[in-house]
Amino acid sequence: MQALPIFFNITDRLCVVIGGGDVATRKVSMLLKANAAVKLIAPEICPELTALADAGKIQFVKASYHSDNLAGACMVIAATDDEAVNAQVSLDAKARNIPVNVVDAPALCTFTMGSIIDRSPVVIAISSEGNAPVLARYIRSKIETMLPAAYGRIADIAGEFRDKVKVKFATTQLRRRFWENVLQGPLVERVLSGQEQAARELLQNLLDDNNIVSTQGEVFLVGGGPGAPDLLTFRALRLMQQCDVCVYDKLVSPEVMELVRRDAELIYVGKERDQHTMPQQEINELLASLAKQGKRVLRLKGGDPFIFGRGGEEIETLMQHGVPFQVVPGITAANGVSSYAGIPLTHRDYAQACLFITGHLKDGTLDLDWASMARPKQTVVIYMGLVGLAQICEQLIAHGVSPSMPAAVVQQGTTQRQRVVTATLQDLPQKVAEAELKAPCLTIIGEVVHLREKLNWFNV
Ligand SMILES: C[S@@+](CC[C@H](N)C(=O)[O-])C[C@H]1O[C@@H](n2cnc3c(N)ncnc32)[C@H](O)[C@@H]1O
Repeated sequence: MQALPIFFNITDRLCVVIGGGDVATRKVSMLLKANAAVKLIAPEICPELTALADAGKIQFVKASYHSDNLAGACMVIAATDDEAVNAQVSLDAKARNIPVNVVDAPALCTFTMGSIIDRSPVVIAISSEGNAPVLARYIRSKIETMLPAAYGRIADIAGEFRDKVKVKFATTQLRRRFWENVLQGPLVERVLSGQEQAARELLQNLLDDNNIVSTQGEVFLVGGGPGAPDLLTFRALRLMQQCDVCVYDKLVSPEVMELVRRDAELIYVGKERDQHTMPQQEINELLASLAKQGKRVLRLKGGDPFIFGRGGEEIETLMQHGVPFQVVPGITAANGVSSYAGIPLTHRDYAQACLFITGHLKDGTLDLDWASMARPKQTVVIYMGLVGLAQICEQLIAHGVSPSMPAAVVQQGTTQRQRVVTATLQDLPQKVAEAELKAPCLTIIGEVVHLREKLNWFNV
């Protein structure tokens, strides 16, 4: 290690920046974020810096650099495009023992600033000691995706309880154990899902009774998206890797299931057409009872839990039982499948509205609002419409939709098993039967389907 990483408190302390362009602007902004008193030296400055000076946020000295500018500074940054000036600043600062950074000139610096991930009060800085700044930025972007923005709020809440914890636990070892317990438990998820008051109450309860965290389970109602695993949200993936038990159904693709924590118990609850492995009410109760055993329960569903997913019923039961939960939206089939089929659902010229309909047959019949489905200038997306496809096409034509209206059925969209059949509304049932498409299939009806001829991009 050639340099010692430190976090330097510069609040209200004088920091001098030499230079008036874009680079100086970036450095000034960072210093202001850290609450420094910034003095800027330059003969000319760019409009952004002028705005900061006019607003009184920085002190601007309109002059060429002189060593006297460094008086009283706790750090100095040279950001000019004049190498001689930069070198002089470095010499002068070193002579006065003032830490100096010269942009893009590691040899002239006594300190450098890493690539920063700001989750204040948690701050991470990555340095490659000047050897590979692009690599440092790449590493930063990787870490950014792993650390939800709310991590800073967790640190804030922990800070609020710091003194109380000190009073309750006398030794450093006990305090450390307490915090480890807290941070591995449900507190973090409460904060990340925006339930900060509940997080505070949990922390208070934990302080009053050490066992409460380990006995309280919860349910994560997670949308697993249409199939491709990289269409999961960051939050979905994080929770999938934390659960003790995963309750999943038929629609969740094997690729997505691969990402569930290896050690988690898996409970399949089915939901194939006409043969629900477990009735919905039993699934609702199962979730509540698993959580009441203290487990972190992942309820993993295909697409989005609130779109033809019965997620609402599940959380209603959880609420009745007082079980904590959070809902993580997923990409619904209409979005994912249409994108991967090259069919935009709306288009300025063809469709200003889009309907999501369930084509699920009840007692072998379809009771849909055919008149609203037959309106012009819209796209109709039908979930679960494979079995009733002939009836749907027939009824739409009977309600005034042109038999030559373009339509598509997409099987297992977004996955390597995706298949797309396009036809006119009149021919669609026969073409789909000939292609022997199997569920899950999504039907898209509307002028936009024509666009696939130009926009098809995903070929498996
Ligand atoms: C019970 S609904 C659940 C919808 C899900 N909650 C969502 O938001 O996508 C099941 C229907 O979604 C559609 N579906 C889901 N994933 C699909 C995919 N990858 N390809 C085609 N259709 C899909 C099919 O119409 C399937 O019958």
